[in-house]
Amino acid sequence: MEFHVYESARAACEAAGVLIAAQVTRKGDSVLGLATGSTPIPAYEMLVQWYERGVIDFDRVRTFNLDEYVGIDHKNPLSYHAFMQEHLFSKVNLRPENTHLPSGHSAEAGLRYDRAIHEAGGIDIQLLGIGRNGHIGFNEPAKDFTFGTHVVTLTQDTIEANARFFKSPDDVPRQAISMGIGNIMAAKCVVLVATGADKADAVYKTLCGPITPQVPASILQLHPCCVILADHEAGALVERESR
Ligand code: PGA
Repeated sequence: MEFHVYESARAACEAAGVLIAAQVTRKGDSVLGLATGSTPIPAYEMLVQWYERGVIDFDRVRTFNLDEYVGIDHKNPLSYHAFMQEHLFSKVNLRPENTHLPSGHSAEAGLRYDRAIHEAGGIDIQLLGIGRNGHIGFNEPAKDFTFGTHVVTLTQDTIEANARFFKSPDDVPRQAISMGIGNIMAAKCVVLVATGADKADAVYKTLCGPITPQVPASILQLHPCCVILADHEAGALVERESR
């Protein structure tokens, strides 16, 4: 696993944008695995700027997002559908039929999403944030790693972390539909971005801890092409260990 530390959160996120842009440049019909949350916003800003300047072209690109809340209207500005429209889809020449987010709350909905990823040829590059508890997508700490797209019940920690976007913690949906660990591990390349001191423990356990479903991101130690991009705050415990 590659690990790079940057002077600022913005630089760490922009480095993820560089890797996605390189992927799209190398392969015009790339399949991108995309993430929501505060962390990836600067990466999307970079991609939009490069698109506007004619550096990259999304005409043949396909995208699959990691997750979506259950029971939230896609037009609700707090939905991940709306997030992606706001930060990327409405600003570049991605074809609407080529953008996908999971949706629904049944096992069939999960299977349909897995099939769509498979039929697109699999994910070339998967962008990830990380939760304070080590979650990736909405794969929360659990007894087992999950394989495919599935409905999850959010942990209290995640509800509290995401409450900042809602009026109150009571308004945060209790369930989500998320790609599984198997979907993420099947991506040809994984780019995880972690910024801020509250991610330091999760980053340390991901890189240096045992591989355990209690820290879902720790499975990435087994991924053949994974890079973790962190700012100094999120990388602090790993940097201290390697000194
Ligand atoms: P954040 O979320 O980027 O908003 O911190 C990351 C995550 O929960 O995966």
